[in-house]
Amino acid sequence: MNRFWSKTVSDIKPYIPGEQPREKKYIKLNTNENPYPPSPKVLESIRNETSADVRLYPDPDAAALKGAIALFYQVDCNEVFVGNGSDEVLAFCFPAFFNPGDAVSFPDITYSFFPVYSQLFGVKYETVRLNDDFSIPFDDFPSGVRGILVPNPNAPTGLAVDTDKVEKLLKKFPDTLVIVDEAYVDFGACSSVPLINKYDNLLVVQTFSKSRCLAGLRVGFAIGNSGLIEALERVKNSFNSYTIDRIAQKAAEAAIEDKHYFYQTVKRIVNTREKTAQELERLGFTVIPSKANFLFVSHKDIAAEDLFVKLRQEGILVRHFRTSRIENWLRISIGTEDDMAVLIEKLKAMMV
Ligand SMILES: Cc1ncc(COP(=O)(O)O)c(C=O)c1O
Repeated sequence: MNRFWSKTVSDIKPYIPGEQPREKKYIKLNTNENPYPPSPKVLESIRNETSADVRLYPDPDAAALKGAIALFYQVDCNEVFVGNGSDEVLAFCFPAFFNPGDAVSFPDITYSFFPVYSQLFGVKYETVRLNDDFSIPFDDFPSGVRGILVPNPNAPTGLAVDTDKVEKLLKKFPDTLVIVDEAYVDFGACSSVPLINKYDNLLVVQTFSKSRCLAGLRVGFAIGNSGLIEALERVKNSFNSYTIDRIAQKAAEAAIEDKHYFYQTVKRIVNTREKTAQELERLGFTVIPSKANFLFVSHKDIAAEDLFVKLRQEGILVRHFRTSRIENWLRISIGTEDDMAVLIEKLKAMMV
């Protein structure tokens, strides 16, 4: 606390990101990064872009990157917005679409940045209580809110819904903007992108951090009708004209163009996820069926917090949330086959 702090800064409870340890090398299964490197074509494009040209500002419109995303998703360039990670895109949505004092709604157990952005931008929120099996009760979203935020798959549960659930919501609340956060969609869920031309109240947000192995370069994007995209551009251009640096623009462009590497990497992670889920079940864990690059698990005999601490001592980081209703659950990111074999071996040793 400091006497120069604004009321907003004094009151806010900032988001706490997963640990990025510096003191020793852990098997990192705590922040849902991709365990594989980006495609060789991406690394080559980074090398090519690392030249004296970094003295020049990047393209403020990231036009080439938007073009590549538009081509991949078969939409128009003016239906694509890019930002410095999908966190920034989600943050920009608040001043773009919600007025201070408006209300939005999202599940009670979901991406923990949503309440933080709401507080930062003076937007009220109503949460919808997840069912006991962690499914989202779509019929419970309230009417009269200005926005609904829903990740698909949800985080940290990994549970996905069919797009007909999203479509029903879009139809039921035509005057509410529905923002679908698809950070993990590529690992087996169905994208709502094909609905953007049918519904002007839909915005889909995705990221290069997970399925495209670029968390360190911070690139995210939104797809929606051109009116929604223009609102995001207006916020961006009132904040920072150059949110995506030259290297990140080129790398992300190469990443979206290398479809073969993308599908191959996603498939590897999905295979490892399914195998790990079976092994964890054999060890007495309840495993929520996941369509993401992580598993949400709880053990019948050993408390999640104890497992978290013991795994850390063994050099493995996973995520434990001290949040009501999920304090006995762990979120485990999918690493390489070898990482997951070590995890299972260490857990087995803890069970004897
Ligand atoms: C549900 C969800 N949405 C968005 C993000 C943000 O990702 P990024 O800012 O790296 O694009 C994350 C990151 O973990 C997430 O879990």
